[in-house]
This record gives sequence, structure tokens and C-alpha cells, in this order.
Amino acid sequence: MSQSLTLRRPDDWHLHLRDGAMLQAVLPETARDFARAIIMPNLVPPVVTAAQVTAYRDRILAALPQGMDFKPLMTLYLTEDTDADDLAAAHASDLITSVKLYPAGATTNSASGVANFDKVRGVLERMAEIGCPLCVHGEVTDADIDIFDREAVFIDRVLDPIRRATPGLRVVMEHITTRDGVDYVLAGGDDLGATITTHHLIINRNHILVGGIKPHYYCLPVAKREEHRLALRAAATSGRSRFFLGTDSAPHTDPNKESACGCAGCFTATNTMPLLAHVFEEDGALDQLEAFASLNGPAFYGLSANDTQITLTKSANPTVFPSKIDTDDGPVTLFDPGYPVHWSVT
Ligand code: NCD
Ligand code: ZN
Repeated sequence: MSQSLTLRRPDDWHLHLRDGAMLQAVLPETARDFARAIIMPNLVPPVVTAAQVTAYRDRILAALPQGMDFKPLMTLYLTEDTDADDLAAAHASDLITSVKLYPAGATTNSASGVANFDKVRGVLERMAEIGCPLCVHGEVTDADIDIFDREAVFIDRVLDPIRRATPGLRVVMEHITTRDGVDYVLAGGDDLGATITTHHLIINRNHILVGGIKPHYYCLPVAKREEHRLALRAAATSGRSRFFLGTDSAPHTDPNKESACGCAGCFTATNTMPLLAHVFEEDGALDQLEAFASLNGPAFYGLSANDTQITLTKSANPTVFPSKIDTDDGPVTLFDPGYPVHWSVT
């Protein structure tokens, strides 16, 4: 017997599409199920000016296969030299939907991020004034802070001071991985939201490290203890409006993942919606999946939910997903939850 679930078409509020051959290969994987996505600007070199955003958006649209409908929601990469007028003009013309803050050195291609937060105070104040949201990679980079503590320390040392100093600034804590992140969002007001990835609802740090190191489960922020995964599950499946889906689907080729110094990132664009249906069903919360994947994100960003729909179907046989996507840069391994999933987008 099959079961089906129809939802408004989802959006992805945190996505890495890359550029060139990789963009060409991964864009259809997202556009097949998602209507819109917030596009991360951590290219090499990063997307730091409005002119670069325009050029990148045009490359994405050019890579979109005919007949696919998808709207990239562009972001500007915040640096200590970001020009507030350039940013404000890009926001006023709807070229950008938000601005991305990477602490310098926090993750893949973040070397041009912010080291001294005082240097971006003026830009953040301007963003609060014009209502441009800030998407935050919430990890400190101090060598003396344990990698598993970096999110919680960021909240105390960086995020909370920034929010107190900049009333009205709308902030999205991206890819939260801890109970601390969940609690901080719950304690905040309507100007604070958070994205949660698919993989952080599924794996904890044991999955990465027990029984041999699993490079395809390594991402940043790194998955934490089980209690944190459970807090994320509770938040995502609660339907609460300030938690929404941001897959952080971050493709790297297999040689770059399966290496002595492997890149961070899980590639989940292809199977995210079936995996989420599995997770929400497991928690008795299928009725909240639409809020998490399709309604809460647009509401936070002041946009309408999509008019079109997708249908998820559960079959007796497990769904067969490709294990890898081929790209002209090399193969990219799809995130494998480690158990059979019976849902598919039909
Ligand atoms: C992302 C990437 O590869 O660009 N990697 C990741 O592990 N999530 C960067 C990021 O979002 O931190
Ligand atoms: Zn990311």
C-alpha cells in the first residue's frame, strides 16, 4: 500500500551551488524539487560586490536546464571592506535577499570573512535600517576552542553582542547543530530564525567517527552528540515558525572528500525531501513537514509561499537513489542516511 503527502513546493534556505561544471551538475538536483534557494557566496574568489552577484546569478540561470523553474535568491559575502551603499542598492533592487557572515577561516572558502567584528558594525546597522537579513555561520575560529564547542561559544561571544548592539537586525543562524542554538532561537524574538540541515537531523558525531572515519559525513559545523541531534529533531518537527529547512547541500568531489585533509560538506540536494519525510514520519510529525520545508522560510524572509506543489509517496520497496552524481569535475557522493528510505518525490 502506498501513502502520499502533497505539500506546497519547498525552498532551500541555505545551498551551495558552486560554479562551472559543478554548478551545471548539481543545479538540476535542487531545481527538481525546490522552487527557490538562498545561494551561498563562498566561491573562489568570493561574491563580495553587487556586480559579482549579478554575474553569478546570470551563470546560475544560464545553467538551469530548459523547462525547469527555479529562482536563486542571491547573497552577498560580508567582508571588512563591504561597501554599505553597494549592499543597500543591491538589496533595494532585489538583487540580494540577504548577506552572509563567515567568521574568517570558519569553513570552506571563508578566508575573506570577518576577523574583527567592529569593522562591520556600520554595515550591520545599515542592514538593520533597510531590513536586509544577515545569514550567520555561527562558529568561532579560535584555536583554543574545541571544535564541538564552537557554536555555543559563538552565540555568547559574537552573536549575542552583535544582536544587542544592532536592534532590528534580522538574523538567520544557519545550520544550527546544538541544543544551545535551538534554545537561543527560542529565547529570541521574531527577528531571529534558524535553518536546520537534513543531515544534522540524521547523524550525530558517532556516525562520523565510530567504526572507521566517514568523510562523507564530515561537514561544518560538525555533527555533535546525540542529545543535540534530538534537540534539532524536536525543533524541526515542532512546526515552530522560526525553524526552517536549509540543506547546506555542499558538493565536493570524492577525491577532495576522501583525502588526508578532506573537505567539509554533505551533498543532500538529491534526496533531501524523501529523507525529511522519513524523519518527520519517524517522529509522528508528517503534518509539520510543510511548515518546516515550505512555509516558515518564506514567512521569515517576508516572501509568499510557493503556489505549486510536490507530492511525496511512500512505497513498499525502498527508494533507489544514485550513490553518486557525475560531474565534469569528478564524482560527488550523495549523502547516505545508512538505512532504507521508502519515500520519493513523485
Ligand atoms: C560548506 C562548503 O563546502 O562550502 N561546507 C560545509 O561543511 N557545510 C561551507 C559551510 O556552509 O560551512
Ligand atoms: Zn553552507
